[in-house]
Amino acid sequence: MAMLMGGTSAEREVSLSSGRGCAAALRDEGFEVVEVDCGPDLPFRLAEISPDICFNALHGPLGEDGAVQGLLEWMGLSYTHSGVLASALAMDKERTKALYRGEGLPVVESRLACKAEVAARHVMEPPYVVKPYNEGSSVGVYLVRDGANGPPKLSDDMPETVMVETYAPGRELTTTVLGDRALTVTDIVTDGWYDYDAKYKPGGSRHVVPAEIPQEIFDACLDYAERAHRILGCRGISRTDFRWDESRGLDGLILLETNTQPGMTPTSLSPEQGESVGITFGAMCRQLVEDASC
Ligand code: DAL
Ligand code: MG
Repeated sequence: MAMLMGGTSAEREVSLSSGRGCAAALRDEGFEVVEVDCGPDLPFRLAEISPDICFNALHGPLGEDGAVQGLLEWMGLSYTHSGVLASALAMDKERTKALYRGEGLPVVESRLACKAEVAARHVMEPPYVVKPYNEGSSVGVYLVRDGANGPPKLSDDMPETVMVETYAPGRELTTTVLGDRALTVTDIVTDGWYDYDAKYKPGGSRHVVPAEIPQEIFDACLDYAERAHRILGCRGISRTDFRWDESRGLDGLILLETNTQPGMTPTSLSPEQGESVGITFGAMCRQLVEDASC
């Protein structure tokens, strides 16, 4: 088996950590695993190794957006996680929301805008969030607070087109779907914004799993996550992130996005959700291998 990891996206380090963890767990499960740090020579490396299966531990553009999946299809190689279409759709947060909306799932208002326009004026009434429409791990996410004087100062590496969305206040909840079953709900407690450091520094956030929230909200997260997984056509695993404004009850629950390559690092949410319902990390990785395309 080839463990595809690393790559060239902003989430390279996250992917290396996911890949190392999954490789170790699968070796313990009895698989032979070759770790492949992915770069432009990937087709040649794969032709050389000729793996029976590729475990996709990549995150971000080229690894999570249908690109590497297309390459693997061309090469006739089986691979874990979602295929080309689901990966491409889920990676585009704006199109994901259009699909959710069409199926009656709750989302916040958003639109795509030119970076220059966003930097020149408030394109929405604050508070709002500006983010790349195709990155993960909160890379390049700006919160423009209520009463902010001017538009955000976007860094040069933001893409030319960005997504602007109404800021949804509330708690961060998340649900993993493994196979076609939602596992549980985690309530992510942070001192401030659930940003890159809060996601990956040990102690950067506290995860309450199962979330101590009303049953109605818990069940809605499970239901919405399974529906999101189906609507996008995900395979193997996905993790859907929510925001919940508890002052508004069920009306305060909205879907933010679905991740087709959820993090598998030591601080990541999906492995922890598995453990909380009795699925070890090794068993989760094994199931992904069993659910791979062939
Ligand atoms: N994008 C990161 C890896 C996640 O969703 O877990
Ligand atoms: Mg993400």
